[in-house]
Amino acid sequence: MKKNFIMKSFFITKKNLAGILLCTALAASALAGCGDREKDNTQNDTSSDDTDNTQSDTSSDDTDNDAQDSAADDESSKIGISMPSQALERWNRDGAYLEEQFKKAGFETILTYSDDDAKKQAEDIQNMLSADVDLLVIAAIDDSTLDPVLDAASLADVPVIAYDRLIENEAVSYYVSFDNYAVGRMQGEFITEYLDLENASDEVYNMEITAGDPADHNAAQYYQGAIDVLQPYMDRGTLNIVSGQTDFDNVATPAWSTKHAQSRAQNLLSSYYADGTQLDVWLCSNDSTALGITQALAAGYAGSNPILITGQDGDEANLKNIADDIQTMTVFKNLSDEAVVTFRVAEAILTGGAADESLISSLGIKCTYEDSEENTCPSFLLEPVIITKDNLQDLADTGLYTMGDDGYLSSAAKR
Ligand code: BGC
Repeated sequence: MKKNFIMKSFFITKKNLAGILLCTALAASALAGCGDREKDNTQNDTSSDDTDNTQSDTSSDDTDNDAQDSAADDESSKIGISMPSQALERWNRDGAYLEEQFKKAGFETILTYSDDDAKKQAEDIQNMLSADVDLLVIAAIDDSTLDPVLDAASLADVPVIAYDRLIENEAVSYYVSFDNYAVGRMQGEFITEYLDLENASDEVYNMEITAGDPADHNAAQYYQGAIDVLQPYMDRGTLNIVSGQTDFDNVATPAWSTKHAQSRAQNLLSSYYADGTQLDVWLCSNDSTALGITQALAAGYAGSNPILITGQDGDEANLKNIADDIQTMTVFKNLSDEAVVTFRVAEAILTGGAADESLISSLGIKCTYEDSEENTCPSFLLEPVIITKDNLQDLADTGLYTMGDDGYLSSAAKR
């Protein structure tokens, strides 16, 4: 269990990625700090303290309303929710799910999107502090720019939950996310199994790689998870990176932008594949970048299809591409569950309840709690799942998407 824990909770951060690439040994010294582990949940005593967390004993939808109400009884309970951008599809869903959780429990919410502009996000959070929020939920654009506003949160005794993206700052009490390294591994393992690389003899598959935003700690984790699985096949030449671009810095995509991913893909296609060289795989860290790749391929690729393309999130356009055999898979992360866990952690913080392993058993959500002896903040990490054309219906079955008569899924979350 402990061994597992160390592997899984290893946060590959911007600050330590370079070191990791030189030496993939998982050095304990590379663990990132994001919060004060000693922080007492009772630190913020502005809300009522009579909530018994054990009362809310199921996931979001069935959460006991009485328990939720008691958390919000204190009329000053106001939650600031800072999301990066509405341009990236998933955050619209995150914002909607988070608001739904807090509002249905009687909390007031302030929800902002910061146009992927780190400076604007700091201002938005500062405005939330000025509006006297009691707790902050932040999906950081670039956590290195947030130190001053997080210091201000600390001074004002406002607890912070790092949502989805790690924030390396002591003001952060908890991190709620998915097992992001596992997401990358799932993409890598999908490729190895799909192409049966283990049994490949002389076969060579041509591959290109697109990773995420270097300002986002998750991007390095996704990349490293996948590369750790694929590296042996790259070393033995079964996977051949035609462009030679393998380093994170070379394959990263600022702001996870579809446009950036598309324009880099167009350059690679015209430089290395214009003569009809076959492309077999494009490892893509997420759906917004995968969309850029498929658009570039549609515009100018001379070889034959289909190409194995990975993704992550379950964005509508990508789910359509999966149905149409244009993208092969995506790693789906149940954002509604992520919002539930976040809400429950926030509720525990505000009421002095337990935000630890014991919270998970009452959730009915697959999630691990990790609290290392290093200076990493306690984390709740949910489990992602693989979606392909064969199990698209599973998404509709979650109730988070609806399946149209045309066979395409659309998100049921209001935007
Ligand atoms: C999230 C991904 C998302 C990406 C771009 C990452 O931090 O974990 O789910 O695709 O940001 O929005």
